[in-house]
Amino acid sequence: MALLIRGGCIVDPTQGIHEVGDIWIDKGRIHRIVLPSRGDSAAAPGPKDEVIEAKGLTVIPGIVDMHVHLREPGYEYKETIATGTRAAAAGGVTTVACMANTKPANDQGAVCQFILAKAQKEGVVRVRPIGAISRGLEGAELAEIGELKESGAVAISDDGRPVADSLLMRRAMEYARTFGLPVISHCEDPHLAANGVMNEGLVSLELGLRGIPRIAEEVMVARDLLLAEWTGCRLHIAHVSSAGSVRLIREAKERGVAVTAEVTPHHLILTDEAVRRWDTNTKVNPPLRSPKDVEALHQGLADGTLDAIATDHAPHGRVDKEVEYELAAFGISGLETLLGLSLMLVHQGTLSLEDWVRKVSCNPAKILNIPGGTLKPGVPADLTIINMERSWRVDPEAFFSKGRNTPFHGWTLRGKAVMTFIGGRKVFHESEGILATTDASVCL
Ligand code: DOR
Repeated sequence: MALLIRGGCIVDPTQGIHEVGDIWIDKGRIHRIVLPSRGDSAAAPGPKDEVIEAKGLTVIPGIVDMHVHLREPGYEYKETIATGTRAAAAGGVTTVACMANTKPANDQGAVCQFILAKAQKEGVVRVRPIGAISRGLEGAELAEIGELKESGAVAISDDGRPVADSLLMRRAMEYARTFGLPVISHCEDPHLAANGVMNEGLVSLELGLRGIPRIAEEVMVARDLLLAEWTGCRLHIAHVSSAGSVRLIREAKERGVAVTAEVTPHHLILTDEAVRRWDTNTKVNPPLRSPKDVEALHQGLADGTLDAIATDHAPHGRVDKEVEYELAAFGISGLETLLGLSLMLVHQGTLSLEDWVRKVSCNPAKILNIPGGTLKPGVPADLTIINMERSWRVDPEAFFSKGRNTPFHGWTLRGKAVMTFIGGRKVFHESEGILATTDASVCL
C-alpha cells in the first residue's frame, strides 16, 4: 500500500522544485515526485493506496529545529521528551536537536543513550541529541566528546551557558574537529553580561533593569570565529541577536571560516520595547535587542549570513516565570509558533518561500550532517503540509508543550502546519491532534 499526497504545492530547494505535483510514498520513503508541468504523467492510485488531498496546501521537507531544550532528564516539570516532541509535531517539526543542559547534563554517552531510548519509546518526532562541551556544563573540563559522538550526539554545545575559558574552547574545537562534529556556541561574555536581565539601552535605563550589552555577545562571537579559524573546526553560532554579530559572521564567511549561524523567531520579530509590559515571557538569553539589530538580523538572513531559523525552544514552569522580572528564568516556548512566526518574513517579502524552507529545513539538516531537509526519492518521508493562509490565534493553554511561556500569547499568525509526517506516517493532523508515537525505526 502506497501513500499519495496529491496536488499540493511542493517546495524542495534541494531539487529545485516549487510547483504543484504529487508525492508518492512507499514503505516510509519518498518513492517518486510527479510534476505535471514537467511532463510527468500522474498515475492513478490503486484501491489499496491511501490518498491525501493537498490541493491549495504547501508540502515541504519536514522542519528541522536545531535548537530545542527538551529538559529531560532532570526538569520534567518543564518539559519531557514526550511533550516536547508532540509540540514539535504540532508545529510541523519532524526533527529536533536537543540541548545538553539537562540534569544530569548530556556530557557522556549514557545520557545520550537514555535520551535516544526515551525518544524511541515516547517520542513523536526524530530526536538528535547535542552533547555538552564541558563536564556538567561547568566550563572546567571537557565532556566525553568521543563517547558522545559514538552514542549519537550530532554536535557539542554548553548552550545556556557560555564557555568562558578560551583554552577549553580551543581544546573542544580540536576534539570536535577530529570527531567531525560542529561546535555550537552560546556566545556571551559572562563578565560583560554582568547578571543583566534585558538588553542594555534606553529601555533598560528607563525601566531600571540591569542591561546585557550587545558587546557581551560580540566579543565571544569574535573569539569563537578566531578559534574556529585557528583550529579548522566547524563552528555554529546559536541565537544571534545583534547587528555586530551579523557583521562579524559575514566577514568571517567572506574569508572562508567554516561558520554557520542561526536566529530565533523572537529575535527576528520583537525588540526590547516588549519588555515594557513587564511580561517575564519577554525575558530571554540573549535578550531582545533594538530595532536596528532586528533589521540587521533580517538582512543577515536574506543575504545568507544567517543560515538557519531555530527556536531555542526553552519551556519553563509557572514557578520559573511568574516571579519578578529580575528573578524569572530566561526562555521562550517556541516550537508551536515557529512556523507561523517565521512565515511573517515570507509574507512581508524578506524571504522567498524557497529560502524559508532552506532556513527551517535544508540548512539545519546540512549543518548537523543528518538526514532530512529534502524530499529526494529514497529518503525517509519526513514532511510537513502547511496551510500558508490559515490565520490562527496563539493560545498557550492549547500548546502540547508543558511550556506556556510565550510573549506571543493572543497574536494572530498566518500559516499553520496541517499535517506532519515522519517516515511516511502521519503523526499530527490539525483536527485530529497527535496520531502516533514513533518506534525504533524513527531514529535512523
Ligand atoms: O533563553 C534561554 N533559555 N537562552 C538559553 O541560552 C538557554 C535557555 C534555557 O535553557 O532555558
